[in-house]
Amino acid sequence: MSRGSVDRAQPILAGERLTLAPLAPDHTEGLVALFADPRASRYFPVDFSNERAARDLVTSRLAYAGPPELGYWTWLLDGQAVGLGHLQPARDLPSELIETGWCVRPDLWRQGLATEAIQSLLDYALSDLRLPAVWALVDSRNTPSISFAHRLGFLSVGQRQLDDGMAQVFIRLADHPL
Ligand SMILES: CC(C)(COP(=O)(O)OP(=O)(O)OC[C@H]1O[C@@H](n2cnc3c(N)ncnc32)[C@H](O)[C@@H]1OP(=O)(O)O)[C@@H](O)C(=O)NCCC(=O)NCCS
Repeated sequence: MSRGSVDRAQPILAGERLTLAPLAPDHTEGLVALFADPRASRYFPVDFSNERAARDLVTSRLAYAGPPELGYWTWLLDGQAVGLGHLQPARDLPSELIETGWCVRPDLWRQGLATEAIQSLLDYALSDLRLPAVWALVDSRNTPSISFAHRLGFLSVGQRQLDDGMAQVFIRLADHPL
C-alpha cells in the first residue's frame, strides 16, 4: 500500500485491490447493506439485521468527531463500499489508547481483503503517525476475528468485561522503539 502524507487529516490509503477512503455520506447505502447482513454483525452488541439499526450505526460513525488524523475508513473495491475499519481513541479502554476494528462484506470473506485493509491502517498508525501501539477489543466468542487478530500480529493481553459480554484485549506493538 502507498500511504498518504500525514497532515492532520485522514489520508486516502490506496492498495492492491482496495482503496481506503475517509468515511463519507455517499458510502452509506453500501455500509448499511453490509451491517444489515446478520453474518457480518453476529458478534456485535446490537442486532443490525434491523436495517434501521444499521443505518443508525453508519450515521453515528459519520458523526465521528475525534482527532482529525484518525477516524473511519470505508474500504472501496471497484468503487463499491465493501468494508469499514477505524482508528480512534478507545471507547472501552483508556481513551489515550488508539483502537482499531474491522468488518468486511460476508460474500467477500477469506480473500485477504481485511488483511490488506487492516495492514494498511496499521502501517499508517504505527509508521506514519508513529503511534507506539494499536489496540483492539474482540468479543471472546468471535473466533474468526480472534484468529484474524493473531494473524495480523496482535498479542492477546487479557480479557475485559463489557456490558454485552467478555472481550479479548489485543495489542499490536510498533516495530520502532517505544
Ligand atoms: C474477521 C473478518 C474481518 C475477516 O475478514 P476476511 O477478509 O475474511 O479476512 P482475511 O481473508 O484477510 O483472513 C486473514 C486470516 O484471518 C483468519 N480468519 C479469517 N476468517 C476466519 C474464520 N472465519 N475462521 C477462522 N479464521 C479466520 C485466518 O487466519 C485468515 O487467513 P487464511 O484465510 O489464510 O486462513 C470478517 O470475518 C468479518 O468482517 N467479520 C465480521 C465483523 C466482525 O466481527 N468484526 C469484529 C469487530 S472488532
